[in-house]
Amino acid sequence: MLPVYHSTLDFARQQDEEDPLQDFRHRFLFPQHHDRDVVYMTGNSLGLQPKAVRTALEQELSDWAMLGVEGHFHATTPWWKYHEALQEPLGRIVGAKPHEVVAMNALTVNLHLLLATFYQPTPQRYKILCEAGAFPSDDYALETHVRLRGLNPSDVIIEVAPREGETTLHAEDIITAIREAGQNLALVMFAGVQYYTGQVFDMQSITYAAHQVGALACFDLAHAVGNVPLELHEWKVDAAAWCSYKYLNSGPGGIAGVYIHEKHAMNKDLPRLAGWWGNDEQERFAMKKGYRAAAGAQAWQLSNAPALLMATHKAALEVFDEAGMPRLRAKSELLTGFLAFVIRDIAGSRIRIITPTAPEERGAQLSMFIEKNGRAVFDYLMAHGVIVDWREPNVIRAAPAPLYNSFEDVWRFGEALKGALASS
Ligand SMILES: Cc1ncc(COP(=O)(O)O)c(C=O)c1O
Repeated sequence: MLPVYHSTLDFARQQDEEDPLQDFRHRFLFPQHHDRDVVYMTGNSLGLQPKAVRTALEQELSDWAMLGVEGHFHATTPWWKYHEALQEPLGRIVGAKPHEVVAMNALTVNLHLLLATFYQPTPQRYKILCEAGAFPSDDYALETHVRLRGLNPSDVIIEVAPREGETTLHAEDIITAIREAGQNLALVMFAGVQYYTGQVFDMQSITYAAHQVGALACFDLAHAVGNVPLELHEWKVDAAAWCSYKYLNSGPGGIAGVYIHEKHAMNKDLPRLAGWWGNDEQERFAMKKGYRAAAGAQAWQLSNAPALLMATHKAALEVFDEAGMPRLRAKSELLTGFLAFVIRDIAGSRIRIITPTAPEERGAQLSMFIEKNGRAVFDYLMAHGVIVDWREPNVIRAAPAPLYNSFEDVWRFGEALKGALASS
């Protein structure tokens, strides 16, 4: 149950006082605007820097300076096993067993690696189903990957689009599209949370429907990881990939992650693109010919891990883990509920929130369709120290991150919005 909201500073401060996570805010570095913390609402794009990251990086630099190549085995976190230090916390965040996850590469790279394994077209079963208006990198990955297999993207890719005049998808339309593709469907490759609208998709039902027609289900969790509760193993999701620079606060271009269900991850014969870091650990340094897959998701690693990015990720995940997904989600529902209330209270019909209203269908982000002068509203907010983002043709996205945003931030957002609407 959401509380009865009031768009007043007193109400916001009262909520902050009752917030069990209020102190986490002080563990992050906020950009400044006129000597004051900005109202940072773009954790859905790039999370803020945890203060602990600098210490973690200094430790790696010092280990490198003192140990040189020996750091692979003797650094504080030995570099050759760095991914192991991240498996437990990542498993908790995505609802997976530790050996089903691995931190590696960047998101789009990992999408290609997952496609290499989980898209195995046959003359009958070759279609891929995704959401219309997916993030461009996902579109490009699918399109080029399909071409690489000698197939034509327009024969292969089925896009599920919103109904006429609507902006979000009906859950039943996704399931119907999966059933209609039936025996021709090889793979569902869907977002967990849609980047533009903030809609959360029912990953469990999508996976179930895909399996019923004999297809596999993979998800891009860029906007879902660290934002909404995930139970990938229990939902029997086949594979997923995400980035760590949004709600996981692991820095621009930070190390990404993948999940591979153990029924696949333990299958050493699956087709894949391999490198020495995914080889059986016992023989990794034996320099022998012939790839022998390690057990678990770690077998999909190609290269030795970038220690500086791994250190950043580890430090950021420690902060995240301390707060824990259940408490973060509980606060997120309240905080985003407050943001929705403030927007409606202040903007009335000038702003249409296109993100679904039901808490289970949204995460932290709200996408606001501005009926007129949207760009001027955005420019005003930015000039007044409220950091949001702009998406053509007329959408402002704002995402209060429960780990470091306060209810007072949302109130300050509302005050700036008043000024923006009055002047544009
Ligand atoms: C949904 C989605 N997919 C893919 C990407 C691209 O990620 P990367 O540049 O890390 O490959 C992003 C980046 O924000 C994203 O939001």
